[in-house]
Amino acid sequence: MLEKDATAHLNGKFMARSEIIAHRGASSSAPENTMPSFDLAVRQNAGCVEHDLHVTQDGVLVCLHDRTLERTTNVREVFPRRGQDVREGGGIVRRWFVHDFTLAEIQQLDAGSWFRPAFAGVRVPTFDDLLAWARNRVAVLTELKDPDLYLRRGVDLLTLCEAALRRHGRLAARPTDPAVTLQSFHEPTVRRAGELFARRVPVVLLVEPADAALLRDREHVAAIAGFASGIGPGKLIVGDQPQIVGWAHEAGLRVTPWTFRTATIGRFDSVAAEIQHYLVEVGVDSVITDHPDAWPDEPRPA
Ligand code: G3P
Ligand code: CA
Repeated sequence: MLEKDATAHLNGKFMARSEIIAHRGASSSAPENTMPSFDLAVRQNAGCVEHDLHVTQDGVLVCLHDRTLERTTNVREVFPRRGQDVREGGGIVRRWFVHDFTLAEIQQLDAGSWFRPAFAGVRVPTFDDLLAWARNRVAVLTELKDPDLYLRRGVDLLTLCEAALRRHGRLAARPTDPAVTLQSFHEPTVRRAGELFARRVPVVLLVEPADAALLRDREHVAAIAGFASGIGPGKLIVGDQPQIVGWAHEAGLRVTPWTFRTATIGRFDSVAAEIQHYLVEVGVDSVITDHPDAWPDEPRPA
């Protein structure tokens, strides 16, 4: 395991691998979207940590992937009567929604044991926790989850996000700080973020495989450059149609496909071989992976 001064890469002593983005942190080795996972990603030399955001009942941004708490915390045991029965896939399922819990309640939850007993007691971090920790340490790729759902509840995730970035001095030009980038699958939110931040904060449009038609030709890809600085396609979109990467680069868009993990390597022998193919042959700018330690420290071939 790589042990290093966390800021060393900024001083030129140790180069973080800017093309490696740790998906929900080092999520194959530590519980996703937690501080141990983010911290391990930096120790594995990732250049950036990706994470997800939801909003608590009292309006606090928290790092969580799901809109409900039961997969990655012990909410069932701590708040057994606070679940809601919802219709899903033809049946009724009990769910504990993030938006039904205050931050104080969520901070009582264990967000580590589900992954491995060694992580018992790990808490759900707030966006403020992450931004304070990341400063001078690593770049951050922030995914706004369900912005449309929150808007319908009268909560504007983007406004909360802007306030947090302002609190942490991330809206001023601070070239010594690694960047914060925002991303979302929700195009109206990406467009609004583009206007709101006027390029002070890069914004990326995520594209699901089912929406690959958004990238169907040079013109459609170029149009995205009108409101975003990058695209985040499901990896098979650009794996199957590598010309999209050229169109994106022509338009000035960065390309950061997802998600590289052992369970989905397809025809490749390893995650490292798949990452190598995408970075070197397909020509993407960076990759989002559960395994930031999979890519070797040596510079990739030119
Ligand atoms: O960064 C893109 C990727 O994180 C999107 O998928 O479901 O892991 O948030 P998901
Ligand atoms: Ca994500």
